[in-house]
Order: sequence, then C-alpha cells, then structure tokens
Amino acid sequence: MCSIIGYIGKKIASPIIVNGLKRMEYRGYDSVGVATESENQIELKKGIGKVNEVNLKIHLDKLPGKIGIGHTRWATHGKVTDVNAHPHPSNSGKIAIVHNGIIENFEELKKQLENEGYSFKSETDSEVIANLLQKNYELTGDVKETILKTVSKLKGHFSFVAMFENGQLAAARFHEPLIIGIGKDDFFLSSDVLGFIEYTDDAIYMENGNFVILDKNKFQIFDFNGEHVKYVITKVSKEFGDAYKGDYAHFTLKEIFEQHETILKAGEKTPDAIEKTADYIRHAKNIYITGSGTSYNSALIAKQIFSKYAKIKAETIISSELQFAPDSIEENSILIAISQSGESADVLDAVRIAKEANCKIISIVNLLTSSLARESDIVIGMNCGPEIGVAATKSFTSQLVIIYKIVQKLSNNDITINFEKFSESILKILENPKKIQQIAKELKDISDIYILGRGINYPIAIEAALKLKELTYIHAEGIPGGELKHGPLALMDSNVFVIVFNPNDSTYSDMLTSAREIKARNAKIIGISDIESDVYDYWIEIPKIDEVLYPISEIIPIQLLSYYAALEKNTDPDYPRNLAKSVTVK
Ligand code: AGP
Repeated sequence: MCSIIGYIGKKIASPIIVNGLKRMEYRGYDSVGVATESENQIELKKGIGKVNEVNLKIHLDKLPGKIGIGHTRWATHGKVTDVNAHPHPSNSGKIAIVHNGIIENFEELKKQLENEGYSFKSETDSEVIANLLQKNYELTGDVKETILKTVSKLKGHFSFVAMFENGQLAAARFHEPLIIGIGKDDFFLSSDVLGFIEYTDDAIYMENGNFVILDKNKFQIFDFNGEHVKYVITKVSKEFGDAYKGDYAHFTLKEIFEQHETILKAGEKTPDAIEKTADYIRHAKNIYITGSGTSYNSALIAKQIFSKYAKIKAETIISSELQFAPDSIEENSILIAISQSGESADVLDAVRIAKEANCKIISIVNLLTSSLARESDIVIGMNCGPEIGVAATKSFTSQLVIIYKIVQKLSNNDITINFEKFSESILKILENPKKIQQIAKELKDISDIYILGRGINYPIAIEAALKLKELTYIHAEGIPGGELKHGPLALMDSNVFVIVFNPNDSTYSDMLTSAREIKARNAKIIGISDIESDVYDYWIEIPKIDEVLYPISEIIPIQLLSYYAALEKNTDPDYPRNLAKSVTVK
C-alpha cells in the first residue's frame, strides 16, 4: 500500500528518501516518486515500476537539496501511470505533496478548484490536496493556517506530507499512519518506521487529527483546532529494520521455514496479557473476534476452539463488514482484533465502531507500536519478527498459538500443549519438502483447486485457498466437506484438483467418504493426513499429534505447496500482483 516519506536536515535528502522507500517496498506498490527543495525551487521525478528500476532510469536519488518527500503508490484512484504517481505539485509548483489514504470528497473539491481556475494533471484524489494547499497558502501566507484550512475541507482517510518552496515541511494524519523520526540533526516523516529505522530509532507516533510543521532545527505538533499537542518519543524496535532473506531465495520461504521457532515465541514479550485477556473474557457480556484475510481465518478457528475447549461462545466479524451492521455490537463487550500489521484500515475501523459501543479492545498484533496496539486495552504480541512476504505465513501460526494459550488459561490449564514437542514435528514437515515440490509441478497448468475441510479444518481450507490464490493466481475455493453434495460436486471432473484436510480427528471418516465421492468423478485428490489412504492420488503426511494442533500442522504443507507452485508458475511469491502487505485504505 502507499508509503510516504519526508526528510529535512543536514544531509542530501534524495538518497535517504530512496533508501527509505526501498525498505518499505514490502508494503506493495506500483509506482514511485521523489521531490526535493533546493534554493527555493521544487524538483520532482516519478515513474512506474520498482524503486530500483525507476531510480536507474531517472535517478531519483540525484535530486539536489536537503529537504524532500517521497512516495510509493498503490493505485486506488486512476490507473498506474507516471502522471498519477506521487508527488503531486500544486499548479504554481511551489508546493508538492505525497498522500496515503483516500479523499472521499475529492470530486467536489476538484470541481470547486477548477471553477476557481486550478487545473489538474492526474486522475488521483490526492492532487486536490496540493491545489487546496496552494489556495490556502496564497490566502494566508502561513503554513499552520494553510494546513488548518486544508484539513478542515478534506473528508476520508489521509496522511500527507507537504513540502513548501520556502523550505518547510508539514504533515497531517487522519486515520492513516504517520510517524516522525527524530535524528541527531535531522527529522524524518514516514508511514512506517522502516522508512527511517536505519538512521534513528527515536520516533513519535502522531495521533489522529494532528499535524506537524518542521523546519531544519525544530518541529511543532498541533491538533486540527490549531492547539499545541504534547508528544512522547518512543524507542522503536530495531528488529523490524533488520529484515533480510539470508540464504533463502524469497522472504516467503524464509518465513515459512521459521515457523518451528516462531510458534515458540508467540506471546512471549507480553506475558501478562494472556492472563489478563482470559480474565476479561470470563467477565465479558459478549465476545467478538475480528480481522481481515488470514487474520480473519484465525478468528474463525478461535471461535471453534473457544467453544470446544473453554465452553465460551464468541462471534466472528469480518472487519470490513462491521460498518454495515454496527448495531450487531452490544455495549460493554469485548472485541478481539487480530492483525499482523496492526495497520489494516478495515480492522482499525471495526475497532473504532466497537469503542463507540464501549467495548474493551484486545489485540493480537505483531508490531507492538502499531496503530491497533495503541488503540487497545490489552495487546498480545505475536513476536514472530518481521513478515515481509505479502502472503501471511508465520504470523498465522503465531496467531493460532496465542489463541491456544488464551484457551489454556480459560480452561485453567485443563488442556496441556507441549509446544516444544510440537515444534519438533513442525520441523519434520519443513525438512521434507521434496514430495510437496513434486506435487507443485502438477499444479502448474491447472485453473481450479478445491479444498475441503470439516469442523476445525474448514477454516484451514479457507486459509489454504487464500494462500493458493495469492501465490499462484489459481482459482482456489475452501468448501466444508459436507457441502460437496449440495452443489460443488457438479464441478468435479478429471481437470480438477481437490485438497482434502483429513487428520485423524472426529471428521476423519466423513471426510474419507467425501474423498471417495470426488474420486468417483475422476478429480485428483491431494490428501493432507496422518493416515495414508488409497483414495489419495498424492498423500502429504502430517505428524500424529494432539488433535487441537492439527490446524497449524495442516497449513504448513499448503504454504509450501503454494510457494513451490508459485515458482513453477513464475509468479513472484514475495510480492503477488495487485496486493499490498499492509492494507491501509478501506
Ligand atoms: C494474507 O496472506 C493476506 N496477505 C491478507 O489477507 C492479510 O492477512 C490481511 O490483509 C490482513 O492483514 P493484517 O493481519 O496485517 O491486518
């Protein structure tokens, strides 16, 4: 998703900005641009493609000056074109902006500005900010007044950095992340600490509805009423800046292979939080669990585990859906929000709705300084280290371990899980990828895969389908095994592959029956099971373990299968097309 960055200080800005943009590449984008100010002149370069490619072509990092802004764009309004890339200059060229988010009333603002003689080059919503700033700056001649007047007109979600020809930077935040980095003799602005972590680990997480004005040696933060705001400087974790692939071909592969270790660390850095969460849950009127994508799939598993092992009922809510049924949240309940990044706009929106209903927020996040963590009453850290691959892998299994740990507490440790032993069995799956690599070759030319699971294995079927879609672009669909004969059986023929999750639990024999029904229609079957069967064309063996742990051990072979099939299909497993790691727009 879009990343914004700004620099003001004693060094040449453009190489620092390009470097920061490279570090934030994992967030996903389609075009890149940089603008700098030197001798009261703004210069700007931008283009479609990866930071390195564009930089090689047009030398973004050679722009002069010690003040600058940069951006990687993930298209929302307007196609992927050079003109639509950021930064956007105002008509006079005396102000340039980079923006993250969506200006919902941009059409109305654009019309007003056009009537006043402003023209627009791009199809973006963002360009209105540049011209609105110009209009207000010409009216007031003062940066603070300009920002106040401008933000009062904007509707939607935004964080933007504006560079003024006079050598000042200003940045405003409204429901999109914005962080100030405090260097020794310089300041940084970024949507992600990775934008500046190489230079400083002192950061100010800007509050919603605040803006900052920066000169070379000082900065001031205000709220949208123009009042001074006090701030806290936080030490950010350097660990997230140290993301590297090591000997692995891709981050995704590295992250899959880390899981036998990361599952042992889940929740470790926030030890009291699990106990506290169990306590909140015991006294809660209602429990809602929310998330998006993979994190929502964890919520589906949490619901089943809470019910089965702790006799606690919970309701799951897809984060992006809550806005259409806000009344489904009863007052004084608990919302458990699951999010790797802690920055998903949909999740933050669900949290806002729950807070309006006086709910307590418990979050399960990877980044303890994220917006979600800061909105929460209790924060449980996944503690799985940076996850750079767009497809969630190790964060998913860490989320599940945290859910198990909460359930252990809720059941007064009635269920005992030996995570050390479990980690050894995960390692066994990871150490033997050969067979999975062979099966991946078979998937190269197929267009549809169906994935069947029953009971607790059904959410895993949905998660497996998501992994296959993201990494291989093959159409994949998770289906509850029992539903097969109610419709999907019509799709089965010799061109179709079906994955069946069939561990030795209460779903085993019913799933075997479903597999036989599929086999009778000539579809190919990949069985994920601890028991071999002649019904499977391909058998991927998972270890015999306590049945509560099957979901984790089942997903790992599918993460590997998706990764190796992506290689067969020549897609980029780390950065699937059209997707972003951190989805910060609604
Ligand atoms: C998972 O593989 C996806 N890339 C995506 O569905 C992701 O889980 C979703 O966008 C939620 O992200 P979050 O956990 O950072 O909130």
